[in-house]
Amino acid sequence: MTPDKQTVGTHDSSAHQNSLTTQKFCANSFVPCDTHLNVNSPSSLSLPTWPEQTAVITGGADGLGFALAQKLATRGVTVAVLDVNPAKLSEAQNLLGENAICLRVDVTNADEVHAAAQCIVERTGRIDVLVNCAGITGKTNIKSLEVELADFDRVFALNVKGSLLTFQAFVPHMLKRDYGRVLHMASIAGKEGNAGMLAYSASKAAVIGMTKVQGKEYADTGLRVNALAPAVIRTAIHDHMPAEQIKYMTDKIPLKRCGTLDEFAALAEFIVSPENTFTTGFCFDLTGGRATY
Ligand SMILES: NC(=O)c1ccc[n+]([C@@H]2O[C@H](COP(=O)([O-])OP(=O)(O)OC[C@H]3O[C@@H](n4cnc5c(N)ncnc54)[C@H](O)[C@@H]3O)[C@@H](O)[C@H]2O)c1
Repeated sequence: MTPDKQTVGTHDSSAHQNSLTTQKFCANSFVPCDTHLNVNSPSSLSLPTWPEQTAVITGGADGLGFALAQKLATRGVTVAVLDVNPAKLSEAQNLLGENAICLRVDVTNADEVHAAAQCIVERTGRIDVLVNCAGITGKTNIKSLEVELADFDRVFALNVKGSLLTFQAFVPHMLKRDYGRVLHMASIAGKEGNAGMLAYSASKAAVIGMTKVQGKEYADTGLRVNALAPAVIRTAIHDHMPAEQIKYMTDKIPLKRCGTLDEFAALAEFIVSPENTFTTGFCFDLTGGRATY
């Protein structure tokens, strides 16, 4: 199925249209699932194995999200990628295979996010993992006095509100089965505050705060909510940057290099795995020794 056929909404679509589209593409693929899970009771510990699981990754058509999608797909997980980039979605569908569900969804749009949740649950019967990777920096290299409020709002609408929207759409499906793993992508900028990046830094600080709240709020369930704060992870964007620019970014990192997509995917995989049972509300570090707190 091409991403266009699977589109669950567009910027101007109504909830009704979304619902019709969802029915059209998801009606015949419902998979019943009645497994009872309770990770809080060691005597009845019955965690799902990877191949049974469905993982939703926003912004998963490119960069860090796609690296994790590939990793989870190799474990047999059914990966649902929500992204706004049709070309990248098409590539992702080809590379992840037909088991993957690649949907064109703007995660700042509540109707589209809820229609996507309905579509994925109808196709797989379950949601086990949510990873919020969709994120933008907004305008950078400007001081607070020059920040445009419209740009600030745009960054918060995606990085913070988008992550709450997906949480509200997908987590109820996890709670029904008393099992779930949520990973919100934060950043070292949210812990330290990067000068010239007010909107991005403040939004990632908000993501870390949201993670702490949600971790505590659902700690008495099988849900674990965590964040991950990388410094710089090397992606295709960096291949075209001058060596001096890379050096400027890595000079603050004691390991004196960028992180790799493999290093990101390895840590992210653990955070959303069944093995991650005793950590919630925490912001994991991926900074090559830069943030030791
Ligand atoms: N790459 C790094 O070094 C780094 C460092 C720290 C934090 N992060 C965070 O990790 C996350 C992923 O970063 P990345 O480098 O892979 O970014 P990226 O730009 O490579 O990928 C982001 C993806 O999000 C998608 N997207 C954008 N707006 C969207 C929307 N409204 N709805 C759905 N999808 C949307 C894009 O199309 C893209 O595929 C971001 O939250 C970023 O802030 C990245």
